[in-house]
Amino acid sequence: MARIRRLTGYIGAEVEDIDLRRELGSAESNLIQSALNEYHVIAFRKQLIDSSQQKSLTKLFGDVGRLPYVRPTEEDPDVIAVLKEAQENQAGVFGGEWHSDFSFLENPPAGSVLRAVDIPPVGGDTLWASQVAAFENLPLELKTVIENRNGIHVGKPYGVKFAPPVSTQVNGSIKMVRGDPAADREVSHPAVVTLPKSGKKALFLNPIYTVRLGGMTVEESQPYLQAIYQHATKPDFCMRWHWQSGDVVVWDNRASMHYATNDYNGFRRLLYRTTYVNEAPV
Ligand SMILES: [Fe+2]
Repeated sequence: MARIRRLTGYIGAEVEDIDLRRELGSAESNLIQSALNEYHVIAFRKQLIDSSQQKSLTKLFGDVGRLPYVRPTEEDPDVIAVLKEAQENQAGVFGGEWHSDFSFLENPPAGSVLRAVDIPPVGGDTLWASQVAAFENLPLELKTVIENRNGIHVGKPYGVKFAPPVSTQVNGSIKMVRGDPAADREVSHPAVVTLPKSGKKALFLNPIYTVRLGGMTVEESQPYLQAIYQHATKPDFCMRWHWQSGDVVVWDNRASMHYATNDYNGFRRLLYRTTYVNEAPV
């Protein structure tokens, strides 16, 4: 029977003694679902699974979803190849700033599953920060500002208004649609969301997609948002995963932010990502 081993005080757990190539029984399914609710990120080592087994795992947490703006693999429209080739030294890295995936959608992904295939000998780690712990420990003066307030999100990397300079854009192996005026549309989500399965509250603001707080201009919001991000990404609330080929990691996109390190020039890194959706944030 699978066992859960926590990785830090606030976030992350490794699921040991499990084989994801098998169909999981209800006891194992319940165990890993409740581990995700409790720890927000769960990791499995040495799982040599394929795309269809990855999708079976993904379905334990919600409906398999497809995302706009990023082209999926040719083999399977539900799967994205997160790939940086060894020679792509000048490219940025996909997800190379703290964020919650696609928070600018009306119904952003509830979470994602990553499966590691080619991993550099050193580097390429991913960090996650618990936004439940960040909210619980948020200084009162910031709590007061964001309580009952929305965050306003825009698909900045894919739009026109906030598009990053071409020289800094991630390019290369991940094919993205850019310059879409529809991505400039403002979408509101509560700055503090309640997680449907656990009832816990989490900060839901991030530096890639949140442009301002509701009822404030971009300029008025900035000091508050910067203070919140500095707090919300404190190492105390973080875990750092050093990938090995065969690893599978599932994360709750509402309960955490994540960050992909870009410290592996000269090495290829390939992971396959699937996404699951549930109800919109509340
Ligand atoms: Fe991401």
